[in-house]
Amino acid sequence: MERGSAAKAARERTAGSMPSKIFNHKKDEFADKFNVLPFAVSHNLGEHPLFELPRLAELATTLWEMAAGKVVVQEGSADFGNRWDEIPNKALSLIKGIREIEQTDAWVLLKSIQEDPEYRECIDQCLTELSELTSVDLKKEITWMDGYIFIASPGAVTPHHIDHESNFLLQIHGDKSINVCDPYDRSVLFEDEIENYYAGDLSAAKFKPASQEKAYVFPMEPGKGVHIPSKGPHWVRNGGHYSVSFSINFCMRQTDVRSRIYQCNHYLRKLSFEPTPPGQSSMKDLLKLMATSRLSGGRASNKFELLRKNLKRLDRASRVFGKVVGRRVAPSTDKGAVSENEGAGRS
Ligand SMILES: [Fe+2]
Repeated sequence: MERGSAAKAARERTAGSMPSKIFNHKKDEFADKFNVLPFAVSHNLGEHPLFELPRLAELATTLWEMAAGKVVVQEGSADFGNRWDEIPNKALSLIKGIREIEQTDAWVLLKSIQEDPEYRECIDQCLTELSELTSVDLKKEITWMDGYIFIASPGAVTPHHIDHESNFLLQIHGDKSINVCDPYDRSVLFEDEIENYYAGDLSAAKFKPASQEKAYVFPMEPGKGVHIPSKGPHWVRNGGHYSVSFSINFCMRQTDVRSRIYQCNHYLRKLSFEPTPPGQSSMKDLLKLMATSRLSGGRASNKFELLRKNLKRLDRASRVFGKVVGRRVAPSTDKGAVSENEGAGRS
C-alpha cells in the first residue's frame, strides 16, 4: 500500500473510534498515590489504530513541518548511566525511521501530538477520566501539558533521569520494562541532584548501585501503563519488538512552586549554606518563594520559561547576597542554560 493511502486507511479506521472508557479503574482509585509514588494502570488503547506506524509517520511529518523541535530522532543504543548530551542524534529519513523502526536501531519522540485533532480528542478524554481517578481537577491544576509518542527499536534504552513533569505513560505496542524509584527516597535521588536539575542540568540525577534494588519494575505490554510522579527517577529497556508508547506529561502548580524553592537552594548551596529542603519549614519556603517571585520577571508562557526563566537573575542575586553575608560562591558545576528542546525526557 502507498504511504498516503496507508495513512488514509488508518485515519478512516480511527475516526470516532476512541473507546468509551480509556482507563479500567474506579473513581478516586489513584487519589492516594497520585504524584507521590509510581503505580501501574490498565487502559484500552493497546494496539489502537491511531498509533499504527503509517499514521504515526504522517503525524511526524505534520509536526516536523510545524517546528523541527517537535520531532527528535536519536540512536536507540544507550546505557542507563548515559547523560542526554552523550546520545547522538540520528540522521535518518523520518518516514523510514518510523515505518522501519524494527530494524533502524532508532528512538523517535513526537511532541505536541495534540496539534492533531484526533490525538487532542484522545488526550482530552484521558484528562477528563484522570481527574475522576485522581480526585484532582487536572484541567485547573495543570500549568503546562504536552502529549508525546515514543517509537523505539527493539532493545532501545532510555537512560536514568528525572523529569519535572508528572506523566501517565501508556504502552500501545510491543513490550518494555520501566523502572521507577520513589521520588522522596534520598538514597536514590540526592537533594543537591534535584537542585542541580532545576538549575539547568537535565542529567543531574545519577544512576546509583541502590537504584535498581529500590526500583519499582513495571513490565509493559499493550493495555498496560504506569504513572511516573514528578522527579521519580526512571529508566527503560525495550523488549524484543519495536515499541510504541503514548505519554501525557504535565506540570502542576504545587510542583512548580517546589521547583522555585529548589532553585533558591541551589544558589544557597553554592554559597556554602546547607539549605533546608522544601516542605520542612513553611517560613523558609515562603521567604524563598518571595525572593524568586521578585526575580521572576513575569508569568511564564511555556515549560522552558517556567523552569529556567529565573536562573540568570537568581545567579546574579546570589552573588550580591554572597558579598553581603561574606560568602564566596563555589566554583560552578552548572552545565549552562539548556534550550527548550534539549533533554528529550524519553520514557
Ligand atoms: Fe522521562
